[in-house]
Amino acid sequence: VSELAARYGTPLYVYRLGDVRAAAEALRRMLPDEARIYYSLKANPHPAVVAELTRAGFHSEVTSTAELGVALAAGQLPQRCLLTGPGKTADEFDDALTRGVRTFSLESETDYQRLAAAAGHRSVQVDIILRLNSVHAAGRGTGLRMTGAPTQFGMAPETAVGIARSAQSSGLLRPVGIHLFPATNVPTAEDLVAEFKSSIDTAATVLRQAGLAARLVDIGGGFAAPFARPGTRVRYENVRERLSATLDDRLPGWRGGEPRIAFESGRYLAGGCGSLLTTVLDVKTSGASTYVVLDAGVNALGGMSGLGRLMVPDAQPTGATPSTAKAAPGHRINLVGTLCTPLDVLSRSAAIPVPNVGDVLEIPNVGAYGLSASLLAFLSKPIPAEVVLEEDGSVVHVRRMVLRELDLGAGAVPSVPVISV
Ligand SMILES: Cc1ncc(COP(=O)(O)O)c(C=O)c1O
Repeated sequence: VSELAARYGTPLYVYRLGDVRAAAEALRRMLPDEARIYYSLKANPHPAVVAELTRAGFHSEVTSTAELGVALAAGQLPQRCLLTGPGKTADEFDDALTRGVRTFSLESETDYQRLAAAAGHRSVQVDIILRLNSVHAAGRGTGLRMTGAPTQFGMAPETAVGIARSAQSSGLLRPVGIHLFPATNVPTAEDLVAEFKSSIDTAATVLRQAGLAARLVDIGGGFAAPFARPGTRVRYENVRERLSATLDDRLPGWRGGEPRIAFESGRYLAGGCGSLLTTVLDVKTSGASTYVVLDAGVNALGGMSGLGRLMVPDAQPTGATPSTAKAAPGHRINLVGTLCTPLDVLSRSAAIPVPNVGDVLEIPNVGAYGLSASLLAFLSKPIPAEVVLEEDGSVVHVRRMVLRELDLGAGAVPSVPVISV
């Protein structure tokens, strides 16, 4: 760690491909052999991570033109990409069709109309799965609910039935199935299986009402992973057995691929592979608090902490060399960044000794929703570099992303760009 920090500087993300492989294998073992698994690039779109999972046979769930570009550049086939997400634009549909994507998750009537127009322009037939915003909530204590309560995701089952019926009799959009993503970061096998069973049940009901013989039922994910603190991937027991029984009952034919059952996962596959190395720039005391100023704040990690339960700012790094400046009893150690906002906090009570200025700390389990989910442009600091390691520790890839300024034609920018190329 110290060698990498010395060679490439900090803040530095380190991704270990060996861990990506181990996670991929663990998820495969957990789910039925017949299942298709999509890697959700939103968790970590680093090309090396995406390429590793593509080689391992995972399909790609993408939500933007750029994510699709990464997937294809990583060797993914366009037929194995699924474009998802609310508010897809005509340009996004058009670009995906141009590149050969033929399966889309639709979130609304508007989504349907936009895709119909884009497919019509090119006279191509595409498959659609309809994302449900089911009002039925299955589990308790799940990480973050995406349905079961009003959200911006998916459509009411009645809307899906209506779209499926009219699409079956017209046009280029072929309704082939249902998509649900009810919750994320679900910590126990019981709750996870309850979510899946509820999703299978809802999907089967909507398919029956729509008179649709489904070819694809994507019941989402929810596979949890620790974030920014030590911990291992959750081991969910007997998921495949319990799911198979429900599938046999509600969607017979799934073993032969009719419908193909699909899952999606981001954090479970990528979370464990990444660490963030950050240097202690200053250690200060204010009142009853010690502030450890790091060169990585929410511009490098945890920019989504504003979303509350998704990413609580309680990073737990290792690597502090205890300084002689002991914190007084009752003092809290705050890990903060360098941004000019009191909200730039990675932890309000880190369980670490007061470190020394110059220490390099390692924040584990930030391979998912780390760099790309952060406030990269805020205060225009350099974006952390990213280094990818093979299992033997050799460096296979290093990069630093930059924010680039494009002149959109309204005249020259009068000064040196704040963010350089
Ligand atoms: C539709 C959809 N698919 C996949 C994911 C990935 O979730 P996770 O990283 O928790 O596996 C999300 C996350 O919000 C999502 O909304």
